[in-house]
Amino acid sequence: MNLDLFNPQDNVPNTEKAFTLFPQLKEIYAALGNTPLISVPSPEGKASILAKLESENPFGSVKDRVAFGLFCDAINKHDFSQGELKLLDASGGNMAKALAHLGRMCDIPVHVVIPDSASEELVEDLKTTNAIITPVDHNLFLMGVLARGQQIAHEDSSWTLLAQHINLVNTTMHQYQTGEEIRRQLNGTYADGWVAAVGTGGTLAGVSAALRQDNPQLVVMASTTKELPYGSLAAPNGKKKFAGAGGFGWGFRQPFIQKFMPEEPQFNPVSYEEAITAMYEFYHLTGIKIGSSSAANWKSAWKLAETMTSDQQVVTLFADAGVDAEREQGREWFNQPKTLTA
Ligand SMILES: Cc1ncc(COP(=O)(O)O)c(C=O)c1O
Repeated sequence: MNLDLFNPQDNVPNTEKAFTLFPQLKEIYAALGNTPLISVPSPEGKASILAKLESENPFGSVKDRVAFGLFCDAINKHDFSQGELKLLDASGGNMAKALAHLGRMCDIPVHVVIPDSASEELVEDLKTTNAIITPVDHNLFLMGVLARGQQIAHEDSSWTLLAQHINLVNTTMHQYQTGEEIRRQLNGTYADGWVAAVGTGGTLAGVSAALRQDNPQLVVMASTTKELPYGSLAAPNGKKKFAGAGGFGWGFRQPFIQKFMPEEPQFNPVSYEEAITAMYEFYHLTGIKIGSSSAANWKSAWKLAETMTSDQQVVTLFADAGVDAEREQGREWFNQPKTLTA
């Protein structure tokens, strides 16, 4: 496994070549980002919580930003006179969806490696795009899809591996796009806390770098899966977890967090059941659909807000709108009579 960071950037990738060769990308770019920063339920008398609503992106998630950046960067680096560009990456789901749709729009072959536990909705959606799908045993979790992606690239060099877990275009998109949007939306104020879930760690690390410019004392909290927390020494497992996040297992740590962040964030483990229940609870309170990682972030942001005062604010990010079947499961858990333990 190669976990070395590569491809440093000092801004989001230039779009000129991509727009010349594939003008249809302009429409996606126009719809990308500038998502609302909304005020969400927060603990009374404590810090308020603001959340970036990433389901408003063109393919429905925060990963549209990173997929678009990686796509443009790969186009910039490819010599089309030498043959076609073919793109490959490993993903928990949302990146696969965004890449597959970009590929279909531009007639660029896309190969995605995803866990075999991916939702039916995702697989059906991917099938509409012509993307090649390689499922990997979900018991191997993130390490399984990463390793298989690297293996495919090694066996057939005609595929360009985007490597979202180590390609610095990922953090760059969040530092210079997501993070800059939040800074503008805070309108002269600053974030006291920043909370995100860690899949690749790109969102957490990139946005932290942007927000620290206005507040070097920024407190950073990462939502991690209770079933396999960040940095866990345990082997990867197939237990259900909130979406898009989790530890690598065997003591490996996401390189963006380990190498890019000056101080390790606080980690808040959130179980699948807590996240799914909160997904419903949030919908019940606000009428807004959020996914399980968003719900985990809401829980973590709440915990951080409780340690702060009413003049402070915690910013978080809701990566997608989630799946209705999980929200329904959340409703059942939410309404279940609570058993009192002594
Ligand atoms: C639903 C969801 N939440 C959170 C994340 C984590 O984002 P990052 O990879 O930037 O850590 C992802 C990434 O795929 C995701 O799909």
